[in-house]
Amino acid sequence: MRVPFVITVDGPAASGKGTIASRLAREYDLPMLDSGLLYRAAGVLAGRAGVDLDDGEAVARVARGIQVEHLGDPEFRTRGAGEAASRVAVHTPVRLALRDLQLAFARRPGGAVLDGRDQGTVICPEAPAKLYVTASPEVRAERRWKQLQAQGEAVTYDEILADIARRDARDGGRADSPMRPAEDAVLLDTSGMTIEQAADAARRIVEAARARWENSR
Ligand code: DC
Repeated sequence: MRVPFVITVDGPAASGKGTIASRLAREYDLPMLDSGLLYRAAGVLAGRAGVDLDDGEAVARVARGIQVEHLGDPEFRTRGAGEAASRVAVHTPVRLALRDLQLAFARRPGGAVLDGRDQGTVICPEAPAKLYVTASPEVRAERRWKQLQAQGEAVTYDEILADIARRDARDGGRADSPMRPAEDAVLLDTSGMTIEQAADAARRIVEAARARWENSR
């Protein structure tokens, strides 16, 4: 039997992968999982419960209670939540606690779009379409800064650039499921692109993968 049509969209913070993943989900009429939100929820809920974010087992106990349906809290989208997410994401017990619901989402018979860091490498290595979306740290910092300003967070560009460097080092340097492109992922550098251009480029990559998948019947 043919695997479901799953599109994985991995890459660093503020690369444009979230927007690209949402657009692909709409165009292909597929449900989307923003796996970063799971780690954000784990970080925020652990913090609220007074749990030490460096204590992997304790954060994992909180993470086991998270459900895909409960990710709408606006605090999960803040700068602090991103930092907490990256910190708790280094712990293997936390990753294991969030694994089953990601696997269940990836195995939906109708297919899915999975956005994250390790979706093409760990969660769904069999996905027929894999993208790895990047952009220079400066371009990503500019984008994230504008986004946070629109959300009303008082923060400077330099602080965001430092956040991004720290997140890249932590997410890419951890031992368990580090951020990296799958061997068969197509790299998309969105640095010089508008969102429309990036979305078009992503669509072309996915169309080619979809044609191969159709032929694999
Ligand atoms: O995509 P994001 O910025 O919402 O992700 C927040 C953090 O969560 C990111 O810095 C690392 C972690 N993360 C992860 O380890 N694995 C994923 N699949 C998604 C996110």
